[in-house]
Amino acid sequence: MKTTLSTLTTNPLEVEQSPVRVALEPAKSKTELTINADIVNYVHMDENNRRGRPNKTVLVTGASSGIGKASVEALLGCGYTVFAGARRVDRMDSLAKAGAHLVALDVTDDASMKAAVDAVLREAGRIDVLLNNAGYGAYGSLEEVPLDEGRRQFDVNLFGLARLTQLVLPAMREQGAGRIVNVSSSGGQFAGPFGTWYHASKFAVEGLSDALRMELHPFGIDVVVIQPGAIVTEGSAIIRGGLMKYSGDGPYRVGARALDKMLASSDKGSLPSPPAVVAKTIVRAVQARKPRTRYATGGGAGLLLFLRRLLTDRAFDAVMRMFLMQGANS
Ligand SMILES: NC(=O)c1ccc[n+]([C@@H]2O[C@H](COP(=O)([O-])OP(=O)(O)OC[C@H]3O[C@@H](n4cnc5c(N)ncnc54)[C@H](OP(=O)(O)O)[C@@H]3O)[C@@H](O)[C@H]2O)c1
Repeated sequence: MKTTLSTLTTNPLEVEQSPVRVALEPAKSKTELTINADIVNYVHMDENNRRGRPNKTVLVTGASSGIGKASVEALLGCGYTVFAGARRVDRMDSLAKAGAHLVALDVTDDASMKAAVDAVLREAGRIDVLLNNAGYGAYGSLEEVPLDEGRRQFDVNLFGLARLTQLVLPAMREQGAGRIVNVSSSGGQFAGPFGTWYHASKFAVEGLSDALRMELHPFGIDVVVIQPGAIVTEGSAIIRGGLMKYSGDGPYRVGARALDKMLASSDKGSLPSPPAVVAKTIVRAVQARKPRTRYATGGGAGLLLFLRRLLTDRAFDAVMRMFLMQGANS
């Protein structure tokens, strides 16, 4: 509500927005008028603004676990209004207690995505940031993984992200501002064996994000890519499950078992970072006035991306094969 100066001159006034209530006497001078107007505006600010916190709304996908869950916690801690989406809503009780709004969300189901975005716009009236984080790794040799599994990988990691982006863009264009933060992977710019579908989907996220960034520039909407390295989450068990299911016993078993062993030992080693490390980077990407286009974060991401840029394709292949053999012998 805006209060005009003339209202302040003629009547005593009580302004209230819970928990603040102030009674104002009519102003007797121009200075008092200005002070009164400042007080009224302050009272009508919401709680977040009064505390100097951002009054912004974020929708986070894949919030029931790992990086998504840690990001919701970090964003709530910075004062954002956060809508946390996932299929397993029951896994997000602690987020609700911390102040998140929960939304049931399956990024492979159009009606579910529409309902989630509608709920955000209905309840918050705006959407400032979409954090496209939901995803998983479909592993196994290309020869053995059924095409349907490859399609599912793209449905979750790419098409879900693209559809949700389509759904939030009209509101962001109307606001003249917004930010799409896409969780890709350091494996969105290099590849390793048995991750064909995963890497293909993340390379696609990177290309989509670059094209979209230029498309949205005239509307004041930015696109940022997050490239986590090895992070300790439930994602590793999903990767290893698919890998051994499809390739653990067939002609690719030596390499597949080596990778499985490597992932198991790396989970316990010092390389992987906790999801909070990525969440901290995501908060930076959300808060930066001029964000970088890409943030490599956690678990050796920076080093591997540096090597990928430095080495030829075949030299990089040799490095990846060496890692795999080390895994087999560990
Ligand atoms: N962990 C790593 O080392 C690593 C490295 C690079 C990139 N990443 C990327 O980081 C993102 C988060 O992964 P994470 O490691 O945190 O894995 P995670 O702990 O397994 O969490 C994945 C999240 O995605 C959600 N999800 C999966 N399928 C979904 C669907 N169809 N609809 C909606 N939500 C779905 C899951 O929620 P529900 O099952 O409850 O729906 C879960 O909340 C992914 O995009 C992943 O590719 C991870």
